[in-house]
Amino acid sequence: MGDKKPTQRDSQRTWGGRFETKPDELMTRINASICFDKRLWREDIAASKAHAAMLREQGIISEADAAAILEGLDQIAAEYERDGVPERLELEDIHMTVESRLAELIGPAAGRLHTARSRNDQVATDFRLWVRNACDEAVCAIHNLQRALVVRADEHAETVMAGFTHLQVAQPVTLGHHLMAYYEMLRRDVSRFSDSRARMNESPLGSAALAGTGFPIDRERTADALGFDRVTANSLDSVSDRDFALDYLSAAAQCSLHLSRLAEELILWATSSFGFVKLSDEFSTGSSIMPQKRNPDAAELVRGHCGRIIGALTALMVTMKGLPLAYSKDMQDDKEPVFEARDLLTLSLQALAGMVETVEFVPERMRAAAAQGYSTATDLADWLVGEANVPFREAHHITGRAVKAAEERGCDLADLPIDVLKSIDERIDQRAFDVLSVDASVRSRRSYGGTAPERVREQIAAAKESLGL
Ligand code: ARG
Repeated sequence: MGDKKPTQRDSQRTWGGRFETKPDELMTRINASICFDKRLWREDIAASKAHAAMLREQGIISEADAAAILEGLDQIAAEYERDGVPERLELEDIHMTVESRLAELIGPAAGRLHTARSRNDQVATDFRLWVRNACDEAVCAIHNLQRALVVRADEHAETVMAGFTHLQVAQPVTLGHHLMAYYEMLRRDVSRFSDSRARMNESPLGSAALAGTGFPIDRERTADALGFDRVTANSLDSVSDRDFALDYLSAAAQCSLHLSRLAEELILWATSSFGFVKLSDEFSTGSSIMPQKRNPDAAELVRGHCGRIIGALTALMVTMKGLPLAYSKDMQDDKEPVFEARDLLTLSLQALAGMVETVEFVPERMRAAAAQGYSTATDLADWLVGEANVPFREAHHITGRAVKAAEERGCDLADLPIDVLKSIDERIDQRAFDVLSVDASVRSRRSYGGTAPERVREQIAAAKESLGL
C-alpha cells in the first residue's frame, strides 16, 4: 500500500528481526489492541510478576535480574495507576507495552521476562484473571439487586395484586411473591456465574506459544500465586480456549434477560393503564416537548442493553466458530464483546437496584386490578371440589356458568346473589362467598412456593438469611 522506503529495518519491534520493511500504517492499526486490552494491565503485571518469581525459583533467571524485573513491574503498576496506560499502536498490545516500558526502566534484563512464555499463554492468563474477577463483580452486584427486591417484598408480603397469564388477569397474587420471583431468577444467575468461575479457574500460564516449553518451569507455582485452583492439562487447548469468556457471556446474557423482564414490568406497570407503580424522579426523565411526561428511560435502557449483551455472546461464538488449533489472531477480538457486556451488565444491575429501591408501589391499583376479570373463579371451582366433592372438570364448568351470570349482571362473582348461584348448581352454599374475595384467595394458596403471605414470608426469611440481611 504505499510508497514507503523499501529497506527500512524494523528492529524496534520485538518481532522485527526477520523483517526487511516496516509494516504499513494500516497494518499497525488493524493489528493493535492496546486501545482496548489496556484494561488488562493489572492482570498482565500480576501474571508477569508470578512468572518472574517462578523463573527465579527454578534457577532460569538470576536473583538480580528477577529483583530488577519485579521492581520495574511494581513501578509500572504505580505509573499506570497514576497516569493511565499509554497507547502506542506500534507496541500492539498491553503485553508489549508493559515489556517495552520495563526495558526502558531496567535495561536488557527486561528481555529475560519473556523466557518460557508467549503472548499466547500470557493473554489467555490475563484474560482469564480479568473474567474471573468480572464473575465475582457480577455476583456482588446481583446480591445488591436481590437485597433491594427482598426488602420491598418484605414490605409487600400481604399486598394483593393481579397475577397474569397471557397478560390477562389470572389469579390474585401478592406483590411480595411477584418480586421474589425475580429473586429466584437472580439466584440461578449467581449460580451460573459461580459455576463459570469454578470451571475457568485453571492456569494456562506455561503453555507458551502452543506446545509447552523446554525450560524447567513450575506451572503449579504460578497457578498458585495467581489464585488458580489448578493448571490446564493441554497446552494447545490452553492457548486457544475461550470457553471461560463464553461461559461468562452466557451467564451475563441470561442474567440481563432477567433484568430485561423486570425492566419491562416496571415500564408496563408505570403506564397510566396499569398505574401499579410510580417510578422515582431519580430514575425517570422528562420529555423535551411534553411537559406532563415521566419516562421510564432507565428501565428501557436495561431492556435495551440486554440485546447488546446477547449480541456480545453471539459475536464471540461466531468469532470462535471454525478456528483451527491453536491461537489465531481472530481471538484478539474476544475482548471487546466481554468488556462491553461487563460494563452494560454492571450498569443495568446497579440501575435496576436503584429503581427497585425507590419505586413507589400503588397497592390500590394493584388490588383493583386483582378484583377485575373474575380472578377468583378458580377459588369457586376449588371450593366445589373441596366442599361439595365435585370433580374438578365439572366444577370448572359450573364456575364458568357463574362467571357468565356475573358478566350478564355486570357484577363480580362475590356480588352474585346466592339464589343465582344455587340455580346454577344447588351444591353451592353461603360458605362459598368466603373464598371469593381476593384476600381469601391469596391466603388459601398455601402450597409450597405459593402466593399465601405466610409462604412468601418464609421465602423472604430464607432469602434474608442467605443475603445476610
Ligand atoms: N494481542 C493479542 C491478543 O489479544 C495477544 C496475543 C498475540 N499473539 C500472537 N501470537 N500474535 O490476542
